[in-house]
Amino acid sequence: MSNRQLLVSKIENGIVIDHIPAGKAFLVLKLLKLPNDAETLIAQNVESGRLGKKDLIKIEGTYLTSSEIDIIAFVAPKSTLNIIQDWDVKEKRTIDLPDLIKGVFQCPNLLCPTNRELAAPETEFRVERGEKIEETKLHCTYCGSITWYGSILDSIKSEQFRIEGRGLVSEAKIEKIFLEALIKGGALRFPPSPDHPFMLKSGRPSPYFINLGALTDGESLAKVKWAFASYIALLMEKGENIRLRLRFRSKL
Ligand code: CTP
Ligand code: ZN
Repeated sequence: MSNRQLLVSKIENGIVIDHIPAGKAFLVLKLLKLPNDAETLIAQNVESGRLGKKDLIKIEGTYLTSSEIDIIAFVAPKSTLNIIQDWDVKEKRTIDLPDLIKGVFQCPNLLCPTNRELAAPETEFRVERGEKIEETKLHCTYCGSITWYGSILDSIKSEQFRIEGRGLVSEAKIEKIFLEALIKGGALRFPPSPDHPFMLKSGRPSPYFINLGALTDGESLAKVKWAFASYIALLMEKGENIRLRLRFRSKL
């Protein structure tokens, strides 16, 4: 199939990252850590009026968190993020460098408070933009150390690079990790017979019961924490009313 054909294949719900500098699509994909079953279309070196050649990525059924968008900006600045809902472009925005970037990069200064063994604060850098992306620099808020673009890119490309808790989130992925943690920890209970559902405190019958108190190990709690945080981030990306949804959810 030619790139031109790939470009015309539209998606129903998800994201299209357009105007990626030619040759950068795979680095962007690596950062997104897609689940194996994600439906993805990649077009490389296709004609673009603005850039001469460009890359493009379409991912069905997925949205990005703000932190993921910030990281993409270091690799593919000025690309366009299109949010697709029900076949329409619901939102279009230019992916731009943030003013501050927190908790993603390490400070190169070993004596920086963020490199302390105990109770180190989360890293925080002010982003200094240059005319060209290669002139971008990071200034550590805690010690003033400067990180140049070459080092930023090396760190992003390295195998150790992880955007912790910020892997590409889809509702399916959050549900899978949340349910796995509940099942492994014995927190998800079913009644002996479907004819005798549990009675919740509210008086509502329920075919299942979640006892979060059963989760006492760090790994399960970290997964549950990740699932809640990712779900909130996902709702924010979709522009949904989080307060209402959470109040509703907390009754479960
Ligand atoms: N797209 C898609 N599925 C849809 C709608 C749009 O895959 N249901 C893709 C289009 O193929 C295009 C991108 O999303 O690559 C942006 O769509 P649109 O704004 O309609 O295209 P352009 O006007 O060409 O975008 P721009 O002005 O940003 O270049
Ligand atoms: Zn520092």
